[in-house]
Amino acid sequence: MKGLILSGGKGTRLYPLTYTRAKQLIPVANKPILVRVIEAIRDAGIEEIGVVIGQTGPEIREALSDGSRWGVKLTYIPQDSPDGLGHAVKISRDFLGDERFVMFLGDNVIEGGIDGLIRDFATNDWNSQIVLKHVENPSAYGVAKLRPDGSIEQLIEKPAEPQSNLALVGIYMFDSYIFDAVNAIAPSKRGELEITDAIQWLVDKGYRVYPHVHAGWWIDTGKPIDMLEANSHVLEELKPYISPEAVCEGSQIDHRVTVERGAKVINSVVRGPTIIGEHCVIENSYVGPFTSIYHHVTVRNCEIERSIVLERSSIENVDTRIQDSLIGRHVHVARNDERPRALKVNLGDHSDLRLE
Ligand code: DAU
Repeated sequence: MKGLILSGGKGTRLYPLTYTRAKQLIPVANKPILVRVIEAIRDAGIEEIGVVIGQTGPEIREALSDGSRWGVKLTYIPQDSPDGLGHAVKISRDFLGDERFVMFLGDNVIEGGIDGLIRDFATNDWNSQIVLKHVENPSAYGVAKLRPDGSIEQLIEKPAEPQSNLALVGIYMFDSYIFDAVNAIAPSKRGELEITDAIQWLVDKGYRVYPHVHAGWWIDTGKPIDMLEANSHVLEELKPYISPEAVCEGSQIDHRVTVERGAKVINSVVRGPTIIGEHCVIENSYVGPFTSIYHHVTVRNCEIERSIVLERSSIENVDTRIQDSLIGRHVHVARNDERPRALKVNLGDHSDLRLE
């Protein structure tokens, strides 16, 4: 089997973080989502992986290179414009050939990996396997309606009035009949070749599509709040580790805390699950649960909880506790001690600032 990761698209819902960065490269618990996807596919025994890339392709290539760091072989498949998940499959034909494959959306994070799913698909004669999950807001996803015997009756992409609360998770397994499907369907109202329509085509033509209902958590990291939720879930699973090359002085560090190489935690309280990245300085601060601080970040005289801070940012002398926040790269947040004591901001387009 081969793997296909979809990493094109624009990620507009995560603006402003994704103005300058591919959304799939945003880290969750200090590891880019895309790397988590690669590791999940590799851990299921698949080493040959195609990566569909769009506008942010150069950055993705630079981050992942040939994949050998993760023990896989990556082939990049450029997609000129984000014309849909079905279109991404269509342009990957040469890479995939006639082999069965797993397609994994590069912004999805799932509990428990995919080796069980891959094993089931490899040992059955299904033409496709899809993964479903009960959700509260099905109209944000592709939605499946099942028959009483558990087989698929209908699949609809982002319906206004969903027929069930079973969403399509961004993990799909196919054999080569999917190419007949993506060649047969027409673009949807939003102008995309929808993979949901292609799977419906398989169902209508009598191909065997097996729906697996996933019991664990699953997050499509489309919006900032989803990133924070994914971060919390992954942090819960992280095996805590304090690097011998980290310095922790005069601090209370919870047993579910990871402190990476070169980090300094001084006179602070750190509650887990939390991760402090390489070469960070945390001083006279409280870093609360469910927080990921990426590398080279300074947090001084502050309190922060359930947040993600990206690399090379600094947060200093802020009196209000920062919570449920996503802070990008090279961001500086500090109390203003100069007169006039006004709020001074330099926010990028689509920023979101909530004052106490
Ligand atoms: O996350 C699950 C959902 O993913 C499913 O429930 C939906 O049925 C499915 O259509 C998809 O919906 P999204 O609106 O979330 O898809 P999005 O546009 O966010 O794209 C998902 C990933 O695929 C993302 O990593 C970008 C990449 N992509 C997207 C498009 C449209 C491509 O590589 N090429 C594309 O043309």
